[in-house]
Amino acid sequence: MKTKPFNDKLAQLTKLLSDGHYHDGNMLGQTMNMTRSAVWKMIKKLERYGIAINSIQSNGYALQEPLILLEPDLIKKALPYEIDITVLESIDSTNNFFKTSDKRNTIQCCLAERQTQGRGRLHRTWHSPFGKNLYLSCYYPFQKDISELTGLSLVVSLAVLSTLRTLGFTKDINVKWPNDVLCQEKKIAGILIDIQAESHGASDVTIGIGLNVNMTLDDTPSSVEFINQLWTSLYEEKGTAFDRNHVAAILLEHLLKYIRCFEQEGFAVFLNEWATVDSLHKKTVTVNYKNELITGEAVGVNQKGYLLLRLADDNVHAFSSGEISLVKK
Ligand code: BTN
Repeated sequence: MKTKPFNDKLAQLTKLLSDGHYHDGNMLGQTMNMTRSAVWKMIKKLERYGIAINSIQSNGYALQEPLILLEPDLIKKALPYEIDITVLESIDSTNNFFKTSDKRNTIQCCLAERQTQGRGRLHRTWHSPFGKNLYLSCYYPFQKDISELTGLSLVVSLAVLSTLRTLGFTKDINVKWPNDVLCQEKKIAGILIDIQAESHGASDVTIGIGLNVNMTLDDTPSSVEFINQLWTSLYEEKGTAFDRNHVAAILLEHLLKYIRCFEQEGFAVFLNEWATVDSLHKKTVTVNYKNELITGEAVGVNQKGYLLLRLADDNVHAFSSGEISLVKK
């Protein structure tokens, strides 16, 4: 795992530049107790991370667009309970963070400014540019057997939807089974859950959420090939940049509320909520189940969170996994 802890100087430099004005390299160096050339190296690093910086010899450096980095203290302060939060400058995948860290059997959270090998479902890549979106993983030690966790990923997508509502997204947000969060039929968030079964009915669970926040269609031309479906971001939908610290705090608050309820009550209590946001309801879909293509009418999910399809013989079958595509009429 390639982990880069946050470089405080990089955070300080970004903060100084965040007013949008030009800052002289010498002055920046003096403020940060660094040489001018060390400042220059950091500017180059930000540029390598894809951050656009204007540089004029007589004036110094200015950010082309505002950039507010993630700060664990700000996120913690906005949460109603204490939680262990780590923010990294870079990592291969935040879901990998908990493979090696000391887990101490408590809920923990890791966010990164970028992922070099962000993972999506079905072995896809999750595009994870620096400072744009949220790449968040939450480690949750469940006192449940792995077989009792089948609805968890659906519950997490409901928590993301609830976060979007709190942020003012009230229309045209829904979920494509099992956990693609859509806004105006475009993907805005994805969920990847890694489960490690422990003994005595316990399970170590890492819940990874990627939420597109300030990524714009304009600033991702070279990466389009990584993204195989229509996507959007909070910025694209509202035309304004979002403070990712604020969004992260709301997301964590909703996530933990939903997971705690799932832990105590199971998936059944979420069935009604799921039905109100199920984008596949009554649609004809094809599921790629173990390399077999099966077409039917989507008629909701069962108590385990499995997708229910009414097949041509009128029987309803439940699918625990598989890739779904809509059949165009
Ligand atoms: C999907 O394919 O829809 C799932 C995408 C999940 C992306 C998140 S970003 C944080 C965590 N780390 C990863 O590598 N993946 C998940």
